[in-house]
Amino acid sequence: HGHHPQKAGKLTFETVAPNTLDQVSIPAGYRSSVVIRWGDPVVPGAPAFQIGNQTAAAQAKQFGYNNDFVGVVPLPGCGGDRALLVVNHEYTNENLMFPGFTTLDALGVEQLKIAMAAHGLSVVEIERVGRTGEWKPVKGRKLRYNRRITALETEFKLTGPVAGSALVRTAADPAGKIVIGTLNNCSGGVTPWGTVLSGEENFNQYFVGGDGAPADAKPKLARYGISTTARYPSDSRKWDRAQERFDLAKHPNEANRFGWIVEVDPFDPEGRPRKHTAMGRLKHEGANVIVAKNGKVVAYMGDDERFDYLYKFVSDKKYIDSDAPWARKHNLTLLESGTLYVAKVTGDSDPAEIDGTGKLPADGRFDGKGQWIKLVSGNTSFVPGFTAVDVLTFTRLAGDAVGATKMDRPEDVQPSLRTGKIYAAMTNNTNRGVGTNAKPDEANPRNANKHGHIFEITEDRGDHTGTGFTWQLPIVCGDPAAADTYFGGYDKTAVSPISCPDNVAFDSAGNLWISTDGNALGSNDGLFATPIEGKERGHLRQFLTVPKGAETCGPFITSDDKSVFVAVQHPGEITGASVEKPASVWPDGGFAKPGVVVTWHKDGRPIGS
Ligand code: FEO
Ligand code: CA
Ligand code: CA
Ligand code: CA
Repeated sequence: HGHHPQKAGKLTFETVAPNTLDQVSIPAGYRSSVVIRWGDPVVPGAPAFQIGNQTAAAQAKQFGYNNDFVGVVPLPGCGGDRALLVVNHEYTNENLMFPGFTTLDALGVEQLKIAMAAHGLSVVEIERVGRTGEWKPVKGRKLRYNRRITALETEFKLTGPVAGSALVRTAADPAGKIVIGTLNNCSGGVTPWGTVLSGEENFNQYFVGGDGAPADAKPKLARYGISTTARYPSDSRKWDRAQERFDLAKHPNEANRFGWIVEVDPFDPEGRPRKHTAMGRLKHEGANVIVAKNGKVVAYMGDDERFDYLYKFVSDKKYIDSDAPWARKHNLTLLESGTLYVAKVTGDSDPAEIDGTGKLPADGRFDGKGQWIKLVSGNTSFVPGFTAVDVLTFTRLAGDAVGATKMDRPEDVQPSLRTGKIYAAMTNNTNRGVGTNAKPDEANPRNANKHGHIFEITEDRGDHTGTGFTWQLPIVCGDPAAADTYFGGYDKTAVSPISCPDNVAFDSAGNLWISTDGNALGSNDGLFATPIEGKERGHLRQFLTVPKGAETCGPFITSDDKSVFVAVQHPGEITGASVEKPASVWPDGGFAKPGVVVTWHKDGRPIGS
């Protein structure tokens, strides 16, 4: 393997300027290629993709739509040159998938099933190209791990206190233990034991018939964004036409079977992935795990909705740091039982100084203290009026009851393995301070927050299992020329504009990498990197941009720092676009396809150098 002339950690890449190009733009000296895109074969025997000639059976063997989370799990014994790429497929853009699309109502049942099969996850064996940082799917060898997990037909096992309870029993599953499919898998994380966690996010949009649900279920459905007054909410995908279970008038508990953290073991291609009810039910963006000093594992999680909450889960059992099969079997149970907390935060400045403009308070920082409020531990509820099963199934209502802090859309939350500090992307909240909505506070300081911010948590005494923490906002996003932005106190003339942070990741040196969704400054979305410790804290610069209409997902930096993977999600997602009139033709020309891209330095240097 090539030598490393430059140590990982120094971010010396040439800044990529904001743009609206229909391409992936990268710094000079770097190369990038598409690893896999929508329709590419995953499972052996997958038919070649042909637009307009799609079937659900084919899609269930091909790479799904709207890739979001990207995890790269090394294959043991392969010298770092082979790995399993695990990717979420969050949702579908039917207008960009089906030629001649008019309305969702006009889709045939087979097309609905294609969309269902295009949701879920893919597991794809990949290999390094030569000695570079480029990776490609393995071809022509036995692909024992390749797998599609879909919303259409994959069986999931419920674990934890809610499994088997009355709230998750249905006509098709009277025992309340096996769920078909996973929905709206957004971000996620790779665990220390080599599995992938995936968040079921905006599951509301798949259901209809909330108006006909039982009266006692309605407030709970409503708190999760499911209409209880219209049979067909305007945002509904109306999958009840393909599978009756999505009709809540007939199957009101089906909605309770989504909104969980899913754990997929990519080394168990036949096994049922699990939904861990002990981690609570929300619009999960994702979950990222760190091993605490005492050996318990702690997962940090965000509920991506305006004015929703930050959570953490602490396992009952301790991680065993061994690859031995018995140890891995033990580690696979860690997320099945534990304690769930929600965050309540206060600022240390006079609230009168938080005027909604983003002006820093007199102490020069948006910062303060926080508390993790215990909601439930095993079968014991700490929320008056809620059973443990209630807390876990209707976690948002439990958070409401204990007065958790309403945040500006908590997206990806990830601990730095270098410092133990935790970074959460608050993507935006244009309703903050508007009308009767919650006013700005020191942790969410801007009215009508268009551009979002980064929230940094430092656990007291570095104890991830504890209940006290301090926090700061190291970055308040937007145009650095605007007075309402903050970049760790760094010289703002040297930083890139950034808007709507969504996913966060770290390289091995601990630099913070941030990808964006919905750039409200008008340019395409992208990937940014910044040192987060020391003098250069906040020296944030743009590393990559994605094509028109796309969101930048992933990102994932390999442990050797040679490759960064991003998912180009929904290229060409612009109002009025179609297969025939695409707003993007990335990556192959003709029409747009979501795809996963890997970027590396041509000389094998660490990503960011
Ligand atoms: Fe699917 Fe919260 O982004
Ligand atoms: Ca302060
Ligand atoms: Ca996201
Ligand atoms: Ca992440």
